[in-house]
Amino acid sequence: MRQMIAGNWKMNGSLKGLASYAGALARGVTGVDLLICPPFPLIGPLITALGSTPVMVGAQDCAVERAGAHTGDVSAELLAEIGARYVILGHSERRADHAETSSLVRDKARGAMAAGLAPIICVGETLSQREAGEAETVVRAQLAGSLPEEFAQVGALGQAGALGQAGALRLIAYEPVWAIGTGKTPTEADIAAMHATIRAALQKQLGEAGATMRILYGGSVKPSNAGALLRIPEVGGALIGGASLLAEDFLVIAAAAAQK
Ligand code: 13P
Repeated sequence: MRQMIAGNWKMNGSLKGLASYAGALARGVTGVDLLICPPFPLIGPLITALGSTPVMVGAQDCAVERAGAHTGDVSAELLAEIGARYVILGHSERRADHAETSSLVRDKARGAMAAGLAPIICVGETLSQREAGEAETVVRAQLAGSLPEEFAQVGALGQAGALGQAGALRLIAYEPVWAIGTGKTPTEADIAAMHATIRAALQKQLGEAGATMRILYGGSVKPSNAGALLRIPEVGGALIGGASLLAEDFLVIAAAAAQK
């Protein structure tokens, strides 16, 4: 399956440098789906800067409510209206910094899909959970709690149906919390085992739709390790933090995915 390389800029980036970043990506890579999720205020400008290139733009979160008195929140409808295609939901930094629960993530995913955004739902264990041998149990519970039943419906994604097949429209990102921003990654065997666990859980939970969803790996992916990580069975691409901030690094990772 074609891989997705998605950049999560987190609370980084500015208007300065957007044009040169977009220009570099426009000269970029074929054979891979590319997505950048910048902070909210940069979504529109980045879409404009990317122009007609196939690089897609997404958000890092959206509100669970559709509209109304929710100061500081941004609705999925508005994100879709300005041209966002995907939304990252349940990132461990939001689960930790904003006490987001799996059931909130599930409700956000439901609302995002109704608005025509494709959710990328993040799961992953902490170091103490891994050391206690609980990693797979934790991730299975996060999947059970965070995925709406609408994920099982093939082609049930409103306007984003134009994006392509169902498997392209709902994604999981496995991001071990202890690998994020630390330079550490699990062993290839551990990633393979967790992605196989996630695939089995998806198929059990969602049937046919669970067989085709891409499962991204995230956590300290960089140009030097991308080739090896992207070759692991059931790794359908990567969600990249730090290394997505430099277009050159992001493109090296994208090229590794295109060669897979
Ligand atoms: P790093 O690539 O900086 O480790 O971040 C991963 C991540 O959290 C992407 O969502």
